[in-house]
Amino acid sequence: MNYIARTEAKVVAVIGAGTIGASWSAWFLARGFRVNASDPSPEGEAFVRRFVANAWPQLVELEIATITLDEALARLVFTADIAEACKDADFVQENAPERIEIKQELLARIDEHLPEGRVIGSSTSGLKASDMQARMARPGRLVVAHPFNPPHLIPLVEIVGGRQTDEAACDWALGFYNDHGKRAIRVRKEVPGHIANRLQAALWREAAHLVSDGVASVSDVDAAITEGPGLRWAIMGPHLTFHLAGGDGGIRHFADHLGPAIKTWWDDLGAPVIDARLTDMLEEGVREEAGGRSTADLAAERDRKLIALLKTVKPGA
Ligand SMILES: NC(=O)c1ccc[n+]([C@@H]2O[C@H](COP(=O)([O-])OP(=O)(O)OC[C@H]3O[C@@H](n4cnc5c(N)ncnc54)[C@H](O)[C@@H]3O)[C@@H](O)[C@H]2O)c1
Repeated sequence: MNYIARTEAKVVAVIGAGTIGASWSAWFLARGFRVNASDPSPEGEAFVRRFVANAWPQLVELEIATITLDEALARLVFTADIAEACKDADFVQENAPERIEIKQELLARIDEHLPEGRVIGSSTSGLKASDMQARMARPGRLVVAHPFNPPHLIPLVEIVGGRQTDEAACDWALGFYNDHGKRAIRVRKEVPGHIANRLQAALWREAAHLVSDGVASVSDVDAAITEGPGLRWAIMGPHLTFHLAGGDGGIRHFADHLGPAIKTWWDDLGAPVIDARLTDMLEEGVREEAGGRSTADLAAERDRKLIALLKTVKPGA
């Protein structure tokens, strides 16, 4: 299958415009695309427009926005009709609820109405492209294109194909996001949780185990990341970090020198059960750690610091 030239893509259909779809809409508008947003909810259009307006100062501050908010809102078309949203689209970002029967039915309809030579990216956090493409007439053009919340700020997009996905569709999606400043990475096998969520889950598993086992409080476990390795992880991932930990000998020296010790830690890692007892401990711990800040206060603090970090670190630069 031949796909359109990436530079020819001007219109993106954002199907499912909730938390992730609204944020994607803001990002695609900021990059100068016309966005056909579609959602069955009667509040859908107002939600997306409000989201875009609220996100715009962040997109300007990060120099992602290439146009003004008024220009962006004029390029946002909302329709509840999937056929209407897809008929002139050059790319689809699908963000419907995470249920396989919804995705299968919806992707079959998107495929029916989207012109030939256009790729479909699904934001799914955990479903496999191989399962989602089951009812599509042209399954080769479906890729998983998994963002991190909020997609208008976080650069990472994980690209995974299913059994019937064309290699060319994966390549197209990788190039497309990267052309516009995202950091799209290729996941070579379909595994639950792709890459980043598996890494988060691995870390949280041990974090919860340490709390459950009475090794440290919730806030001290969090501080062990935010005041320690977390500061480095926004700059270098775990492999490059340990390459530096090996001094002049790099990762090879690190593996020889500390590998045996790390093996004993790996063997001792926990497998906590998220039962009522542990959930109570975690809830009490985060309440203490939040120190009276509401979840809205915490989210605002996170976004403010995230923007400062992105401006300083300039991922991918
Ligand atoms: N929330 C996250 O942190 C996150 C992160 C990355 C990926 N994702 C993935 O993004 C997708 C959407 O998640 P979300 O958090 O935005 O959910 P959400 O519930 O906020 O939004 C889903 C939207 O889909 C709409 N919808 C319902 N049925 C539909 C249909 N048949 N066709 C089109 N739209 C329909 C709903 O009205 C709603 O607005 C999921 O696949 C999820 O796994 C979520």
